[in-house]
Amino acid sequence: MRLTIDTDSKTLVVESAAERPELDLYGKEAFERISDIWLKMSWNQKYSYTFTWMGRPIIQHPEDLVRLQEVIYHVRPDVIIETGVAHGGSLMLSASLMKAMGHGRLVIGVDVEIRPHNRTAIEGHELFPMIRLIEGNSVAPEIVARVVSHVTPVDKVLVILDSNHSRAHVAAELQAYQALVTPGSYIVATDGIMREVHDVPLGKAHWASDNPAQAAEDFAMTHPNFVLETPAWRFNESPLNKSITAWPCAWLRRRV
Ligand SMILES: C[S@@+](CC[C@H](N)C(=O)[O-])C[C@H]1O[C@@H](n2cnc3c(N)ncnc32)[C@H](O)[C@@H]1O
Repeated sequence: MRLTIDTDSKTLVVESAAERPELDLYGKEAFERISDIWLKMSWNQKYSYTFTWMGRPIIQHPEDLVRLQEVIYHVRPDVIIETGVAHGGSLMLSASLMKAMGHGRLVIGVDVEIRPHNRTAIEGHELFPMIRLIEGNSVAPEIVARVVSHVTPVDKVLVILDSNHSRAHVAAELQAYQALVTPGSYIVATDGIMREVHDVPLGKAHWASDNPAQAAEDFAMTHPNFVLETPAWRFNESPLNKSITAWPCAWLRRRV
C-alpha cells in the first residue's frame, strides 16, 4: 500500500491493488488511515516502552491506559488481577486509581519471573500495601489457586491478561480466570496488536494467527456469557469513534 500525504493540496492518497481513494487530509478517514500506520510504526519504535506510572515503568500504549482508567472508574472493581507484572507500572496504575476512588481493596500481580530489582522497587512503593505479588506461571493450577484464595464471593473482579501473548497461553488464561470475573466487568486480553504488526521489522510472521486477539475471539465464540465489546467512550465531542489501540479485540465483558 502506498500513502501519499500532500500538505499543499491537503490530501491523502491511498493506493493499493483494491482502491485509490483521494481523501481530505484533515478528515476522519485520513486520520484513521494514518493512525493505523502510525500505530504500527510506534510499535516498531517501542513507543510503549517510554512511560512510567508513579515511578514504575509501564509498558502500554497511552490511549489504552486512559481507556482502562475509564473502565476502572466506571466498573469500580474491588479486586484487579493482572498477569504480567514486569516493572510493576500497571499494578501501580490500578492501585493508584483504587486509592483515589476510595474504592477497591486489592491488586494481584502474577508473573513467572519477578526480577529482584523490580520486586524491591514494587515492595518499597507507597502503594504496595494494596498489592499482592504471586510468582509463577499464570496458568499453573497452584498459581491460579493462590490468586483465587485472595478473592471473596462479594468482590467485584476485573482481570487483565498481559503475560505470554501466544494464542494458546492466552486461551489457557481466559479459561483459568474467567470464573473470577463478575457480571458487568471485563477480562482484558491485551496486545492483540501482534496480529497487525506481524509484517513490521520487529514482528513475527506467525503472529498473523498466533496472537491474543485470536484467543479472545475464539473464547467469545464458545462462551456466550461473555461478549467481545470495546467499552463505549465515556466522553466524545469529536467525529471519531475508533480507538488507537494496542488492544484490539481485547475486551470481554461478562454478561451474566
Ligand atoms: C509485557 S510484560 C507485562 C507488562 C506490564 N503489565 C505493564 O503494563 O507494564 C509481560 C510479563 O509477562 C511475564 N510472563 C511471561 N510468561 C508468563 C507466564 N507464563 N506466566 C506469568 N507471567 C508471564 C514476563 O515475565 C513479563 O514480565
